Amino acid sequence: MEKFEVAILDRPSSFLMSYAEESGLHLYKIYEAEDKFSALSAVRDKIRAILSYNLAKPLDENFLKPFRNLEIIAHHGVGYDAIDATWCGQNNIIVTHTPDVLNDEVADLAMGLLLATVRQLPQADAYLRAGKWQQASFPLTTSLQGRRLGIFGLGRIGKAIAKRAESFGLSIAYHNRKPVTDCSYAYYSSLIELASVSDILLLIAPGTAQTYQIANAEVFEALGSNGIFINVARGSLVDESALIKALKEGTILAAGLDVYENEPNSNPNFVNLSNTVLLPHVGSASLPTRQAMARLVVDNLKSYALGNGPLTPVPETPWLRKVV
Ligand code: NAP
Ligand code: 8YV
Repeated sequence: MEKFEVAILDRPSSFLMSYAEESGLHLYKIYEAEDKFSALSAVRDKIRAILSYNLAKPLDENFLKPFRNLEIIAHHGVGYDAIDATWCGQNNIIVTHTPDVLNDEVADLAMGLLLATVRQLPQADAYLRAGKWQQASFPLTTSLQGRRLGIFGLGRIGKAIAKRAESFGLSIAYHNRKPVTDCSYAYYSSLIELASVSDILLLIAPGTAQTYQIANAEVFEALGSNGIFINVARGSLVDESALIKALKEGTILAAGLDVYENEPNSNPNFVNLSNTVLLPHVGSASLPTRQAMARLVVDNLKSYALGNGPLTPVPETPWLRKVV
């Protein structure tokens, strides 16, 4: 393979590094530098590819423009909201991501979070550990049975969640910009309408300008006082102040969250509430799934470097094979 210079941002898993090292790509481990981003300036002109992991800072025009020879960004994750893919498309830079290999893992986690929130599993665990069972039984909870799940974002992962939820006896409704043709779930043409017919509202749509803080006070009002809110998408989809108010005032019953506006920090108000179940963004975080994601990141770079094109480009940067 011709020399193909890749800058690795942030601190990837050890197995991702091993796959990258075995790949024959020429790696710059920028993550080892004290200031990883300013360290890039020394090697900027050599870089043809960026491997991005947990982005501490957006890959936008401001950051990317100085990379005059950049051809491809391979992102570890299906959500690429931290990368300005539209600008990349306009500037002939391919962006790849890791769709499908994590669908089942994230869907399993979403169902776990949903069950934990509805039946208050962490609260029950804490109750037993605190020795309170001897004094009284744990208070009765709300139920999953006979309830309707509203999915905002019936895409790859949303469909995997819907399939699982059906087998739990939930009825399914959803909102996307366009109805999907390969299922018979009830479609609603706005998030507000979906919230008003749902007992449990679950977000699994991408973080974009259109979805920014789309789950707001009106949506929580529409979900109602028995409503459960679950977010496994991105924190940016939620007006967190409105959610905290809704949880405090009983506008909704409870929330289960895997993602936050300002990760790795979560608003301390969420922690102080007893009607929240909080996870540290672990949707895809099992060893086999992270290994599959890591393989796909490296395989994208390798396939591109060998002239065969990227395997999983994002829609904004389709691979248009160069005619020679
Ligand atoms: P996907 O297949 O592209 O599905 C996204 C769905 O959202 C599509 O059905 C799309 O339908 C809908 N959508 C997009 N923009 C919308 C809008 N403005 N209004 C309404 N619906 C909209 O994506 P995926 O692979 O399922 O992943 C979804 C997201 O999950 C990722 O982008 C990522 O942010 C998040 N995620 C989180 C974790 C975690 O660890 N918690 C793990 C993986 C992924 P239309 O195009 O018809 O609108
Ligand atoms: C990961 C994710 O947490 O794929 C996504 O969009 O949110 C998760 O799978 C993240 O990408 C890890 O780098």
